[in-house]
Amino acid sequence: MTRISVIGTGYVGLVSAAGFAALGHDVIGYDIDEQKIATLESGGCPIYEPGLEELLAEGRASGRLRFTADLGAAVAASDVVFVCVGTPQADDGTADLTQVEAVARDIAAHMTEGTVVVEKSTVPVKTAQWIRRTIELCGGRGFSVASNPEFLREGSAVQDFLEPERIVLGVADEQAREALLDIYAGIDCPKVVVDIETAEIIKHASNSFLAMKISYINMIADLCEAVGADVRQVAEGMGLDSRIGPKFLAAGIGYGGSCFPKDVRAFMRIAEQHDVNVGLLDETDRINEARVARLVARMRNDLWNLKGKKIALWGLAFKPGTDDVREAPSLRLARQLHAEGAILTGWDPVARETFLRAVGELPVEICDSPQDAAAGADAVIVVTDWPELREVDLASVAGRMRSPYLFDGRNWLDPEACASAGFWYRATGRPGVETVPGQAS
Ligand code: UGA
Repeated sequence: MTRISVIGTGYVGLVSAAGFAALGHDVIGYDIDEQKIATLESGGCPIYEPGLEELLAEGRASGRLRFTADLGAAVAASDVVFVCVGTPQADDGTADLTQVEAVARDIAAHMTEGTVVVEKSTVPVKTAQWIRRTIELCGGRGFSVASNPEFLREGSAVQDFLEPERIVLGVADEQAREALLDIYAGIDCPKVVVDIETAEIIKHASNSFLAMKISYINMIADLCEAVGADVRQVAEGMGLDSRIGPKFLAAGIGYGGSCFPKDVRAFMRIAEQHDVNVGLLDETDRINEARVARLVARMRNDLWNLKGKKIALWGLAFKPGTDDVREAPSLRLARQLHAEGAILTGWDPVARETFLRAVGELPVEICDSPQDAAAGADAVIVVTDWPELREVDLASVAGRMRSPYLFDGRNWLDPEACASAGFWYRATGRPGVETVPGQAS
């Protein structure tokens, strides 16, 4: 059993804190946001993440998981301190590390000798060096710094934490190595023990590679669209080669979320600072940024003027299984369509509140069902691949629309089923099922 404190109870911090408690450790979660701590102390869960509430409840019940708004007390009572604070994107695309620096100072003021300070937030290479230097400048001695990047995905974060495909440990001394291997002893998976800079790069390189895979297939989708090929079949044909693999080859409206867009840019900036050409990543980002504009252009082809047209957004979260709308294509789409004068409705099973907060003044009427959002609309766009959308009675939706256009930004619905329900179906990177408007088979 290790005494652990987790500094920052956002996505990564909260899941990690609950996960460490489930592994049998004694965990204190800290956050600067007292409101959040009050919620957590009173048995609540500030974020939507499948399985997390249950894991938190188990941790609290076992007495191994507590929360506090007192950082000093948390650090003083711990052998290992995980830094899980935010590393948002600064205006120039670099990662803003001011929260990490502030926490490093606070840790220095309260830690005891022998403490292992572990960065878990996604940070650029060399951040651990800065953490070490900051703690030393504040008088810290006899401590270790390590890197343990997190690879969990929103929506399956609990499972990703408890059953990871690998654990990466960046260490510079035996004390940190042993402490981290002990903490994860209960998890059976490959443990990659490397130096700290290597661990830091593994995280950014992994996310950037996945983002690149998505932009790559989106580029292929554009070509498929131009020549009448089917990108889903192309991806299938490519993915059967084990060197390529089938995952992250779903073409569509592009990647969003709090990680890929930000991490690709931060990785570019740090590489540029070291005179490394990042054209590959630049193009990855550019292709992704252009996805929404491309869809809007295709809509103009079918709908002519968008001004005054009623358009329904099916799905608002950046992906299914989460209420997170950070960098979600839905936001970009709403802004562009609104700028063209379209009237917007939207539906999402969980991201309604987060979306409304994020769009602010922009008028989007949020409806209780996909059917309601589409009533009287000129077009529906599948923005998020929610499983619920596959259960919708498509014929009844098409029958209630002014013009039954369906733009599938995720290639999520069955083209034949959409066409026979009366939709004029437009896929991404694959031939639409061409029915003559009004004469669906
Ligand atoms: C991502 C990584 O997958 C995690 O391993 C990592 O730990 C996390 O970032 C992080 O750095 O914290 P996440 O942002 O939760 O996780 O979401 P993903 O499931 O990776 O999806 C990202 C975006 O790519 C979504 O918008 C999704 O719709 C899109 N996507 C994904 C595609 O457009 N096509 C695909 O084939 C796959």
